Amino acid sequence: MAIKAAVLGHGVVGSGVAEILLNQQDCITAQSGEPLELAYIVDVRSFPQLSYADKFVTDIQPVLDDPEVKVVAECIGGATVAFELVAACLKAGKSVCTSNKELISVRGNELFALAEENGVHLLYEACVGGGIPVLRPMQTCFGANHIVSVRGILNGTTNYIFGEMENNGCSMEDALHQAQENGYAEANPTADIEGIDAARKISILASMACGKYVSPDRVSTRGITEVSMADMKYARECGCSIKLIGEAKLDGENVRVSVAPAFVPKENLLAHVNGVQNAVCIRGDMVGDTVFYGPGAGKLPTASAVVSDLITLTDLAPRENKLMWSPEPAALAEGSEEGSYYVRFSSERGAVPISGFEHVKFLSDPENQTVCAVVVEQTTEEALRAALRGCSVGLIARVLL
Ligand code: HSE
Repeated sequence: MAIKAAVLGHGVVGSGVAEILLNQQDCITAQSGEPLELAYIVDVRSFPQLSYADKFVTDIQPVLDDPEVKVVAECIGGATVAFELVAACLKAGKSVCTSNKELISVRGNELFALAEENGVHLLYEACVGGGIPVLRPMQTCFGANHIVSVRGILNGTTNYIFGEMENNGCSMEDALHQAQENGYAEANPTADIEGIDAARKISILASMACGKYVSPDRVSTRGITEVSMADMKYARECGCSIKLIGEAKLDGENVRVSVAPAFVPKENLLAHVNGVQNAVCIRGDMVGDTVFYGPGAGKLPTASAVVSDLITLTDLAPRENKLMWSPEPAALAEGSEEGSYYVRFSSERGAVPISGFEHVKFLSDPENQTVCAVVVEQTTEEALRAALRGCSVGLIARVLL
């Protein structure tokens, strides 16, 4: 007998989920043992031209009332309507999976509790890394390890934008427009550009890594808007690419969590992650360094992860799922790490503000009296900012090891 599934939202990801459920039944059935039937799509809009237009309903009630619906995929986005609908499904005894990073990172604690109370499951593989399997492997395959760090390129849109700027001389606006047309960007792309989407993803990874909750608003977050073509040129001269890096480093009881643009040396794998691809590097104390790589956004890659969760949900035993963390807040390490930092700034006093630092390498002409681009070693972002008080700081970016 078929297992009925419902899809909430028919946007980029939801339509991909419907397409996969309709077209990939051979592999789905081979995995789940039973066909997974697309029974309902809940969306306030109608799509009369679609071959599966008869599946649409505008209200969640028929889904809640149908005892044959066992699994639900939430692809609406946001943490308000999506929260209400997911909560209603869990209370009605239906397991849910979601691609909604905002929902899980901001309100996951409430939903995990609801799932547990109702003996059902909530999975969210598609929230991090789009189509890349990373959360479940992190949970199930690193059991013999303490996670030491998680670092990666977690936003496809900004990585695509950097590539278009660097390789094709595109403006940030034009590249963002292309990313939107390709279905990579969030409904409000400010979340991509300002690093908020990556902060939600590293919040999920950090919470899973340390077992305690790191809310996205506690992640030190900077986006890509400060990065200019000049910075890209200087990065190239240093043998680096600029990438938006999300990082969680565990240090005893504390975790340091950040999202910021960084100079990534070409010797580092992350420098070669291009376009919409994402990569998540997980370091365990026993296994060492591992890398998960693949398409980080887009309709079918993300929907692939959602449908895999749907399949998993069809036969997870009650309480089998451990894909979550304690609601207790994690202790955060304050301040930035000591290391090498690139800084571009302008000052009427030329390079004077950084004259107190010992290890300074000039990228711009040292004679240039107004704009300076330098790499300063053995420092912290706070020390640099303190020295540059009163100057106009264009960009500070850590140079990764
Ligand atoms: N806007 C997101 C990104 C979608 O570009 O990575 C996938 O989470």
